[in-house]
Amino acid sequence: MLNVHEVLKTFNRGTVNEKIALNKVSLELLPNDFVTVIGSNGAGKSTLLNAIAGNFMVDSGEISIEGIPITRLPAHKRADLISRVFQDPLSGTAASMTIEENLIMAFRRGKGRRLRRAIGPKERDLFRIELEKLGLGLENRLTNKVSLLSGGQRQALTLLMATLQKPKLLLLDEHTAALDPKTAEKVLELTCGVTEQQQLTTLMITHNLDHALTFGNRTIMMHEGRVILDIKGIERNNMTISRLLEMFEKASGSHMNTDRMILA
Ligand SMILES: Nc1ncnc2c1ncn2[C@@H]1O[C@H](COP(=O)(O)OP(=O)(O)OP(=O)(O)O)[C@@H](O)[C@H]1O
Ligand SMILES: [Mg+2]
Repeated sequence: MLNVHEVLKTFNRGTVNEKIALNKVSLELLPNDFVTVIGSNGAGKSTLLNAIAGNFMVDSGEISIEGIPITRLPAHKRADLISRVFQDPLSGTAASMTIEENLIMAFRRGKGRRLRRAIGPKERDLFRIELEKLGLGLENRLTNKVSLLSGGQRQALTLLMATLQKPKLLLLDEHTAALDPKTAEKVLELTCGVTEQQQLTTLMITHNLDHALTFGNRTIMMHEGRVILDIKGIERNNMTISRLLEMFEKASGSHMNTDRMILA
């Protein structure tokens, strides 16, 4: 479904700050895989998601989705295939626009001229139904400006926008890290609900090792721009956090930098 083949990405090439962020990384996702991504700071997790989304061109290697090569497509041409949610609740929605204006942008994504038409009653009904599923009371606040919402509400709205038109691939970069624990759990629950319901293929970066093992069906660990562990099936079902840290140390030959890591 997603195929990342030996992707190399070097930042600041030829300078003292040269950094190989992705070191011929390869990764294959099956349809409906929900893969959690863990690793120390600077391991290349965000860079991998950025490479897939097309934030920059990679130095070498190939990326394809359902057999469609996307390696050389600009980001806006990948946007029909890929949806993303970032850590910052402010980044996914337009604050000065209303909830329904934000939703209509997501709903009409890739539909060109229809963008300028007014929002119709059918679209409003759909938005109410979808917002109701979030369980946050937003269905009664369609014409509220998004700037009035809390971080958790905004992140839930961003998630809804990311999945309103089913993407082929959903990329989540620590999308609950900026939320308080209770709100984070709620947004994670919504994430699981929508990925299951829409049978999405998902990559989710998290610093919470418990979440990494609890959510999804597969966990990969990155280190120095490569995938060093790929855990699924029975091995994953029986995995504990301490065992995971042990495996990391064995595979990487170093201690995991756990500064930002939530261990339980
Ligand atoms: N735009 C950039 N320019 C220069 N260096 C970059 C850029 N983006 C990332 N890097 C470097 O590439 C490496 C990988 O960064 P990346 O952001 O992918 O790490 P990460 O695994 O997401 O870490 P974290 O857990 O801290 O978010 C780091 O050394 C980082 O400093
Ligand atoms: Mg990151």
